[in-house]
Amino acid sequence: MPNINAAITAVHAWVPEDILSNKDLEKMVDTNDEWIRTRTGIEERRILKGEGLATSDMAVEAVGQLLEKKGIAKEEIELVIFATVTPDTTMPDTANTLCTKLGLTNAYGFDLNAACSGFIYAITVGNQFIKSGTHKKVIVVGGDKMSSIIDYEDRATCIIFGDGCGAVLLEPTIESVGVQDSILKGDGVGREFLYITSGGSKVPNTVETIKNKDNFVRQNGAPVFKAAVKGMSNVVSELLEKNNLGIDDISWLIPHQANKRIITSVANSLKFPMEKVTMNIHKYGNTTAATIPLCMWEWEDQFKKGDYIILTAFGGGFTWGAVLIKWAY
Ligand code: UT7
Repeated sequence: MPNINAAITAVHAWVPEDILSNKDLEKMVDTNDEWIRTRTGIEERRILKGEGLATSDMAVEAVGQLLEKKGIAKEEIELVIFATVTPDTTMPDTANTLCTKLGLTNAYGFDLNAACSGFIYAITVGNQFIKSGTHKKVIVVGGDKMSSIIDYEDRATCIIFGDGCGAVLLEPTIESVGVQDSILKGDGVGREFLYITSGGSKVPNTVETIKNKDNFVRQNGAPVFKAAVKGMSNVVSELLEKNNLGIDDISWLIPHQANKRIITSVANSLKFPMEKVTMNIHKYGNTTAATIPLCMWEWEDQFKKGDYIILTAFGGGFTWGAVLIKWAY
């Protein structure tokens, strides 16, 4: 039996048209364009507007356009793994809703919540379905409508997050390309620094929780910042060492886009040249599970078959990790 690898054979993404700029935020909270640019690198973010529009609607665009671009019939898709912290509803799951809205009639799906690390967790799970030989066409989606869980009176969070969605198609190959390795980590100590208090089984929403705005994301940024730099730098080093690779062997580093200073600190600590690091945080802010596929989509034209690419992320939980892929086309 030849060794089966899971290759990323297509990538696509979609962002809403509406822009929320730093200048707009200046009118909403006590902040300013200069502070946001220098402390985060963010200039604007996209916001999904429209009555009843949800995370799955962005995914309908991203995945629908991906299938069109790749020339694959909707019926061929077998499984959808949807990384998100902003599901359309707590139940049913968003993957299921997406399959029906888009007409993926032979697919089943499930949601995966690993906050900002969701996409790399989902790629790792999808890889197992392909490698085992049980599935031949798996869609991995990372999408979040962060604007639905942001308090636009809280300057510690509202300046950071935006909405967007990206997706990849995983298919089997016997060539030595595709997902090569993955290291995922987690540590629940992080739950006191980045969290939503209510709306789960511990504190269900009540009139009181809504009045207190406990249903929105809260963050103590500084400890998250430090843990993110350390976590991503260490896990990328571990992944390189495990695979006997050096920085020079890697064509691209695709880090989660949470803060430009986190990205440059990780690159500096790894001695990774910035011209090989993807960064589009200035346009989209932190779109949580969508940041990595949004980068893959925008850099797709620059990737070459056989390029080693590392994806790395850090997020709420804490969750973090890194995935080594060899570009397949
Ligand atoms: O993706 C999931 C994981 N999340 C992250 O990785 C986010 C990690 N954290 C961060 O990116 C940064 O910590 C933030 C961007 C959230 C905050 O930046 P910071 O450099 O850590 O700022 P800080 O919270 O230490 O605050 C520095 C100063 C404070 O003023 P004083 O006490 O020095 O006078 C804040 O009150 O900046 C002030 N400040 C602001 N000023 C203008 C905090 N937020 C703002 C703001 N506008 N929005």
